Amino acid sequence: MSQVTTEEAVATTTTEQKYRDYVITSFVKAIQPVVIDRGDGAVVYDTSGRAYLDCFAGISVVNAGHCNPEVVAAAKAQMEKLIHCCSYIYHSQPVADLAEKMAEITPGRLQKTFFANSGAEAIEGALKLARLYTGKKEVISLEMSFHGRTYMTLSVTGNAGRKKRGGPYASGVAFAPAPYTYRSQWDDDERCGQECAKAVEHVIRYHTSGDVAAFLAEPVMGEGGIIVPPKNYFRAVKEILDRHGILFIADEVQSGFGRTGAMFAIEHFGVEPDILVTAKGIADGFPLGGFTARPEIADCFQPGDHLSTFGGNPVSCAAALANIKYMQKHKLPEQSRDKGAYVIGRLQDMQQKLPIIGDVRGLGLMIGVELIEDNEKTPAATKAESVRSICLREGVLVGVGGVYGNVIRLQPPLVITREQFDQALSVVEKALREVSA
Ligand SMILES: Cc1ncc(COP(=O)(O)O)c(C=O)c1O
Repeated sequence: MSQVTTEEAVATTTTEQKYRDYVITSFVKAIQPVVIDRGDGAVVYDTSGRAYLDCFAGISVVNAGHCNPEVVAAAKAQMEKLIHCCSYIYHSQPVADLAEKMAEITPGRLQKTFFANSGAEAIEGALKLARLYTGKKEVISLEMSFHGRTYMTLSVTGNAGRKKRGGPYASGVAFAPAPYTYRSQWDDDERCGQECAKAVEHVIRYHTSGDVAAFLAEPVMGEGGIIVPPKNYFRAVKEILDRHGILFIADEVQSGFGRTGAMFAIEHFGVEPDILVTAKGIADGFPLGGFTARPEIADCFQPGDHLSTFGGNPVSCAAALANIKYMQKHKLPEQSRDKGAYVIGRLQDMQQKLPIIGDVRGLGLMIGVELIEDNEKTPAATKAESVRSICLREGVLVGVGGVYGNVIRLQPPLVITREQFDQALSVVEKALREVSA
């Protein structure tokens, strides 16, 4: 490990002090005590040069690895030609090329994309499109969901923890139960899937005025605690939605771009959404979001209905295109599937020895380890925070989430190697033993 020079120590202190003085961070519980200076693949380095194995990827963003050379080269080349022109006033080639690529990689008949700057902005646009297309107004989303931090995206977020001190929220939103087998009244996945799907019809009947434009759901729930719905859930829900003329908006902001072992998580469920929303992993760290719809839905936007000054930024779009090509060339979704199966197996072995592990779940490299205090499944949130701190101390970055704050989230860059993950898992095990002692 490199020596910390005085200059590097000063840079770290100055950055942390400037954060305290000038950056609004009061909404996060704890900003991690590390200044990230640079990244490479699945590793980030602090200002002293200390390496950290990154198992959180900037909240599931840098799927093709930090500073992926092919993504960087594409962005640099575009930056030297044109940074901004407003892609909705003039034509821009990276936007056209990326939109064509999105039509190729998204499921079924999804074809036309609107590009925004973030997940929340993309969800907002998708909801607006669904309302305009159906002529209906209400939305159903899931309890324990998370869809962003703007007013409307918080309104459709099913978690008071994220909404507190911001209400009252928009009306016309109803919530269906999350298909979360581990904490449901049904032990078996199939039954949980069936019952939770049936509950969507109940919500339409009794919690709305019947004027429902869209059902919005994450195919794998990220912030809610890496909740993987039962295999039968979305198919059963889609059948109900079709009967009621309600669109299905899949929020793939966190689960998209190879994260779950398929390009998009909804592919695991054999269902074609009407609108698919993306962000995070789309451009390997460049800010970009989007929603993709079938042409007949997309074309209901009329002039003046929607726009975004920075949306479809040429540099972000060029980076996204290179990112997706890299993913396809190196089969990152398949890598994610295989690596994820290995990691889940290792965690399940750990679960046999460590009673603090209540549940291990995930798809591909979107993995959650739910920590509990006892046989009553009392959430072990403080211990989850301690695990994160111990991992940081030992040079591994992990996330913590879940509606009870007790889920360790492992969502590394998909390029992480088996050796790197073995190293990370031994640190996670050490941390779990330390907090169990
Ligand atoms: C499923 C999901 N939707 C939407 C968002 C909001 O995305 P952004 O933070 O880019 O606005 C997030 C962010 O974590 C997310 O996980």
